[in-house]
Amino acid sequence: MEEQLDTIAQWLVGAKRTVVFAGAGLSTESGIPDFRSPGGVWDRYDPEDFYFQNFVSSEASREKYWQMATEMYESMKHALPNAAHLAIGELEKLDKLDCVITQNIDGLHFKAGNSPDKVLELHGTAMHVTCLSCNKRYDRDEVQGRLAKGDKAPRCDACRGLLKPATISFGQSMPERETTAAYERSGACDLFIVIGSSLMVHPAAMMPVVAKRNGATLVIINRDETACDDQADMIIRGQAGAAMTGIMERLRGLLAR
Ligand code: APR
Repeated sequence: MEEQLDTIAQWLVGAKRTVVFAGAGLSTESGIPDFRSPGGVWDRYDPEDFYFQNFVSSEASREKYWQMATEMYESMKHALPNAAHLAIGELEKLDKLDCVITQNIDGLHFKAGNSPDKVLELHGTAMHVTCLSCNKRYDRDEVQGRLAKGDKAPRCDACRGLLKPATISFGQSMPERETTAAYERSGACDLFIVIGSSLMVHPAAMMPVVAKRNGATLVIINRDETACDDQADMIIRGQAGAAMTGIMERLRGLLAR
């Protein structure tokens, strides 16, 4: 592991464009469960219940969705960035980061110091709510307040449209700007680092493949096997926090020379 961390730090020094790709495994050390590990979100909820088509077609599905979303939001609302998030923030400060492509909806990259123009939220964000009809934006806590008062599936004040956290559900269209930019940055980078993702959900999981096809070096930092391990130049099978801390210590040392 030590030698691997040395090598990754050297790759970071030499790289012109480094892209970090993040999944839910990046935030478990901040107390937010991931989706597919034992005890994860999909252990407690059936993903079928959370298809976008269900949300728009039935009041019962909307109430169920908001129940799950409220529980997930409670685990995110007070969460703090962990060592791995802070390492990505530091990469930006050291001018060693092209961008972060994230599947995470918890907003922790911003709390860790990454600037909005460096973060591509492919699956949206849980930190605010939008109306699906008129796109009016609502503060998440304000809407949670309505739920707490018994409104099980809130509606828009302006048009009575359906309110939904600004996340991308299965079957919902991907955000165009972020998705296009993610493909472009993945195709243009020379170092691509995956942190905490099973790489099972598409089109997000295409990004490491695009990077590899365009000649980038691919690093995967993940506790368990991923769907792209066979394409990786380096695999760190361990905790993201410890791995990123080790890499940053070495990088600082190399940059100080
Ligand atoms: N350090 C390193 N790896 C970790 C850690 C950790 N502290 N904690 C968990 N992991 C790994 C797990 O082993 C798992 O392989 O992170 C991975 C998380 O995978 P998923 O739960 O599948 O999460 P993700 O890849 O982000 O899921 C993609 O699926 O459910 C949808 O929209 C949701 O964005 C999500 C998408």
